[in-house]
Amino acid sequence: MAAIKVRTEIPGPRSRALMLRREIAIPRGLYHATPIFAAKAEAAVIEDVDGNRLLDFAGGIGCLNVGHRSPRVMDAIREQLEKHLHVCFMVTPYESYVALAEKLNALAPGRFAKKTLIVNTGAEAVENAVKIARAYTKRPAIICFNDAFHGRTLLTMSLTSKTHPYKAGFGPFVSDIYRIPYAYPYRAEKGTTAESFAHDLEDAFKRVVAPESVAAVIAEPVLGEGGFVVPPREYFGLLHETCRKHRILFIADEIQSGIARTGKWFASEHFGIEPDLCTTAKSLGGGLPIAAVTGRAEIMDAPEVGGLGSTFAGNPLSCVAGLAAIETIEKEGLLERSVAIGERFEERAREWQRKWPLLGDVRGVGGMCAIELVRNPQTREPAEGETKAIARYCYEHGLITITAGTFNNVIRLLVPLIVSEQELEEGLDVIEAALASVADHKGATFSNARH
Ligand SMILES: Cc1ncc(COP(=O)(O)O)c(C=O)c1O
Repeated sequence: MAAIKVRTEIPGPRSRALMLRREIAIPRGLYHATPIFAAKAEAAVIEDVDGNRLLDFAGGIGCLNVGHRSPRVMDAIREQLEKHLHVCFMVTPYESYVALAEKLNALAPGRFAKKTLIVNTGAEAVENAVKIARAYTKRPAIICFNDAFHGRTLLTMSLTSKTHPYKAGFGPFVSDIYRIPYAYPYRAEKGTTAESFAHDLEDAFKRVVAPESVAAVIAEPVLGEGGFVVPPREYFGLLHETCRKHRILFIADEIQSGIARTGKWFASEHFGIEPDLCTTAKSLGGGLPIAAVTGRAEIMDAPEVGGLGSTFAGNPLSCVAGLAAIETIEKEGLLERSVAIGERFEERAREWQRKWPLLGDVRGVGGMCAIELVRNPQTREPAEGETKAIARYCYEHGLITITAGTFNNVIRLLVPLIVSEQELEEGLDVIEAALASVADHKGATFSNARH
């Protein structure tokens, strides 16, 4: 039986009515990728308020690697509901926080002693990683990358690259942040070797900031919002080596790429690196908000007693949900499943690429995969309007996808890893039909306007 069931046009009348209320009650700055209001969700399917069933290939922006309402997660939450809710770990500690920290310490790359701080959101994890790095090194500066996304708080927005809509009008930004190019092979201007990309860091030490002022380099091992860009295999090893030479810490922001998304617990493992600090969030909570900083014990212990914390950080429901999500990944073989999803996506996407020059690049690691769309394969002019039209076609035909990329021309897959074979094919069929409808639409003009 097909997973997708479109009963009304999408959006249906109930979603449209709610959208009118939303427009009056909620600021426009809070974007929505689809105009559909959710009523229920289970595994890889969302049912909207009009009774349409849509396949979810976005997973609430990569938060549902174990799927919606994953049974172990639901049981753990129910059990915790009968015990206690908020007591505040900083006032009265509880075991699930400790157990989740122990688990992340064991899973994170590196055979050294580790400690974990649990917080609420990805941005808060990045903020804390920077605080910890500064406390340890006693240096102020942070180096980040073009096309990076690290969050929307003042510090993390300052680390984020994309101007509109993330930064424009929100300055002034935090000082002592320096940005260098990321290893983006498809859009590289001067060679695509790991060495040529990694050279930009040494260059920055001469031209931009003295290495002895730098506390940390922060990088996403695979870019998330920036378009699922995958650097060459040796790139991060070279960066990390340069960092070590100058006693600079290397922070891997694994908020989107971690917790099985790429077929490993941490995407850093694909690059053979052991970051000093790692941030996680999103799929860590199995659908509840939680985030963490995991790192070398002596670095994590640099801030003084009372220097870290937050009222709701590591709330008990999220901690037990996190432990259950991790157990689900282990017991259901979701690391292997992520690899299989990535392989199947690549097979289908390479076929599409042979048919339509619109597909400039097909890339990814495991289940973190994407296509970058261009108007012309030679000039690589971003096909922003076409990308928007494809995402729209998809949701109108029962598949939720989201876009990415500094040039708004990437369709990314964040499909729950528990997706069935049939659902995966069904979703990929919708993407194929969307590509056909846009690519074969000769002479049409696609607006690049966001609204
Ligand atoms: C790599 C990365 N870092 C940080 C964040 C910020 O996380 P949050 O939205 O939970 O604050 C995100 C969110 O998309 C992300 O992808």
